Amino acid sequence: MAILPILVVPNPILKKKCTEIKDINDEIRKNLDDMLETMYDAPGIGLAGPQVGITKRMVVIDVSKDDEAKHPLKMINPKIVNESEDGVEYEEGCLSVPGQYATVERSAEVDVEYLDENGKEQKLHADGLLAICIQHELDHLDGVVFIDYLSRLKRNMIIKKVQKGTK
Ligand code: NI
Repeated sequence: MAILPILVVPNPILKKKCTEIKDINDEIRKNLDDMLETMYDAPGIGLAGPQVGITKRMVVIDVSKDDEAKHPLKMINPKIVNESEDGVEYEEGCLSVPGQYATVERSAEVDVEYLDENGKEQKLHADGLLAICIQHELDHLDGVVFIDYLSRLKRNMIIKKVQKGTK
């Protein structure tokens, strides 16, 4: 496994719409393992392909707490098939927007369908932090970062702060 460099805003790769994965092979499985290792190392609770320069539809997630057993999720071609009308607000952060946080409204519960690393179809109902994280990570696959939900002024301010902090 390997720790991959994480791209930060305003890198144009983070704006790309990612492509569906047709062939789940060893390279994809290695990408997922590397993404998990990179996420745990950061540390973070989710990471999407484009954040490490891979513009394919895959994400890794683990929202377990430090004192709990690890519960890694690897999702290929994930799709939200149902979302609750109930919204929930949460102060989000992102490994591609280091050190910056902002409140975003999401659906409180979602149903997601995806393929696992063996190509098997999986279905998951999520609420709480997992539901928020799934929506945040899936957004990345369509080139959307959480700061895109903020006003242009606020977004530009955050990007400037990130640029200052990472130079
Ligand atoms: Ni993110």
